[in-house]
Formats: sequence, structure tokens, C-alpha cells
Amino acid sequence: MLPKEQNELLTRTGPGTPMGELIRRYWIPALLSEEIPEPDCPPVRVRLMGEELVAIRDSRGRIGLLDEHCSHRGTSLFYGRNEECGLRCIYHGWKYDVDGNVLETPAESPEGDFRNKIHHPAYPTHVAAGIIFAYLGPKNRMPLFPKYEWTQVPLNQTYVTKCLVECNYLQGLEGECDSSHLSFLHRTFNPSPGQALYQLDTAPAYETEETDFGVRMVAIRRLPADKQYVRVSSFVMPLSGCIPAGGRSGELDGFEIHTYVPVDDTHTWRYDFGFKRSRPVREEEVHRRKQIGPDYRRIRNLRNNYLQDRELQKTSSFTGIEDFLNHDACATESMGSIYDRSKEHLGVSDKAVIALRRYLLKVLKDFQEGKEPPHLIRDLAKNRFPHIDSIAEIIPASVPWRQHFRHLSETANAEIS
Ligand code: FES
Ligand SMILES: [Fe+2]
Repeated sequence: MLPKEQNELLTRTGPGTPMGELIRRYWIPALLSEEIPEPDCPPVRVRLMGEELVAIRDSRGRIGLLDEHCSHRGTSLFYGRNEECGLRCIYHGWKYDVDGNVLETPAESPEGDFRNKIHHPAYPTHVAAGIIFAYLGPKNRMPLFPKYEWTQVPLNQTYVTKCLVECNYLQGLEGECDSSHLSFLHRTFNPSPGQALYQLDTAPAYETEETDFGVRMVAIRRLPADKQYVRVSSFVMPLSGCIPAGGRSGELDGFEIHTYVPVDDTHTWRYDFGFKRSRPVREEEVHRRKQIGPDYRRIRNLRNNYLQDRELQKTSSFTGIEDFLNHDACATESMGSIYDRSKEHLGVSDKAVIALRRYLLKVLKDFQEGKEPPHLIRDLAKNRFPHIDSIAEIIPASVPWRQHFRHLSETANAEIS
């Protein structure tokens, strides 16, 4: 269990909160590129950690992420005119460029430099892997954009989806660090060979270790014939879980990155990126897309009980709910908007969740004492991350996973616990 004060500390992300200020030091997903597909397209609303923003793509294709409320008297710029390299407020015609410079104040006298005295809040952005990332922290502390493997492969070898999760971000993120639920929540009664592995041993051994990027989590399931199924996943600062898709060769070579971005303290955007190292992604592989409507809300949601089918629950799957995306949402949203973790009872299967919380609390404490948070990239030469690989493989029971996956240990810097 987590005392109420610590629960508050980890779950509140609005401006000025410790966790909110910590997350603002990193590049985080703000929206998908497809939401503003072409120059001068309509602005879209973006809510990030309680901040109301609008995103635009201007006439030259440049992206702007601006405070939603006009610096004049607060009218929403969502209704504005995106024209000739700027966003114009519909109330009195003030016009802003993507950097927040005030280009025109047509209701004011043309003399004087009134407009130059005002700067509209705007955040830097960076496009990678079909996502528009934003940096919401202090300008002078902005890190390099991390060159993760999944941002370096050709776009047709990647996929991305986004959907709303109606609860606090930490509930979703903890699910990514919880290998135990794979044996239950996502169980089908006619499993594929891969799924069957999770049912052979429902109480795996867990190892966790702190690294330079966050926390590595290893679930080890015993298999017959002196084999073991080793599943390595990673929590990457500040909001991502990296999940294995398979091994390091063939069809499944690559992994997934699930990022939980707070909209506010009770809503979260879940971004699922995936990539293949050696081949294009086929459209039918991204089956979760069918679960999400054009407004990025899931069709099966809290209000319709995820369209749970009690007959299917008897005959076909553990939940009677279609698709793992909805399983995860049901498990985490049904806890309530912000779960009171002082009521929980943690077991040994929660070891990785405990490691995640311990790590975040330690990072927060150091941050509040003025220390630089981990995994902020400032050195070009260190902007590469082969050790954030996430893998699941069957290996001989006698071989330690660390020996089998040597590349993971290269920069790990802490003890196995
Ligand atoms: S409120 Fe936007 S120009 Fe007046
Ligand atoms: Fe899951």
C-alpha cells in the first residue's frame, strides 16, 4: 500500500505540482501528426497535464503548440483562423505565429509597439514516429530529443495509436509494469502458442533493477524440459512502458512502447507505438485500431461496460471483453479516477509495481532537492539506447537472462533486487 501523501505526490501533475514539474522536464507526446495533417488545417485542442492548449500547422508546415486562450482577453484560439503563417483570434483579430510572437493587433493604433511587449505562451515541438512531442519545461533546461530506436526506423516500419483512458495516468503505467496480469486479464481459452506460455506458470519470479533510463523488469516463468520463458520490459522516464513483442529476429523483431500522458489528473492519453526492425508493418497487425473511434475514444468503454459478453466469458476468454486494449482499460478505469492506494494489499507478484513507485518517489525527492532528473539527454554522443530493448524468449533454465541478453547490461548501473 501507498500512504495517501505519497499517492497524492505521484498522481498530481498540474502546473506547480512536484510530479507535474518533473514530467515537464522531458519530451512527451502531445498529439498525433495526423491530427493536423496539412498546412493551414483547423487548429485542434490539446489538453496536457491540466494545461489548455491548441496545436496548429501553419502555411509553411511549421507546428505550433500555443496556450488556448488569447493573450488579449482570453477567447479560445481553437475557433481562430489559421491563415498566412499564423493563428488569428476571432474576437479582435490578434494574430500569433507558431512561436507565440504577436504578429498583429489590428484593433490597436498602428503606432507604438504594443504587440512587441506581449509574448503568447508557446511550447517547442518535435515530430518523430508519427507523433508530435512537446517540451513544457523551463526553456533553459530543455534536453535533446532522445534518439530512441523506434524514432530512427522508416515510418512504414512503425505504427501508433492513441486512445483516451478515463483515469489517472499512474494506473495505466503500473499496468505496464505488471507482467502478472498477462496470465489472467488477457487469457483466452484457445490460446496461441505465445499466449499459452503465460498460462503455464501464473506465478513467475520477478527481478527488477534501476538503470540510467528508469527501471528494468524481468518476469521469469518456469517451463517444462528445463526451459524458462524470460520476459524483459522497461519503464522509461517519465511515462513509458516498453513491452516485448517477441525475440530479436524474424517476424516479431521489435517491441512496443506504451506511453501514458496525463490530460489532467483523471484522464490520460494512452499512446501505443510499435516498430519492426527489419520489415514494414502490415495494417492488419494493428488490430487495436478497430477499437478506437475517430475521436480517439474507445468504442468499448466504462459507460457501456466495455460491451462485456457474459457468454463469451464462460466459453472464450477470461473477461468476455474484446481486445487487450479494452481489458487494460477495464482493469484500470474500474479502480476509480484516482485509486486510493492506501487501501490495496500488495503481494510478491507486485514487485515490479513496487519498484516503479520506489524509483519515482526517489527521483521526485532528488528533484525537489535540486538534483538533475535521470535520463535527460544533453550529450550527443550518449544519445543512443540499445539497452532499452524489450524481449521475451524461451531460453535454457540453466542460463541466467543477463548472460543471454548481454546488450541489456551494458549501461545498467544498479543492483538486482
Ligand atoms: S480576445 Fe483575442 S483578440 Fe481579443
Ligand atoms: Fe495488459
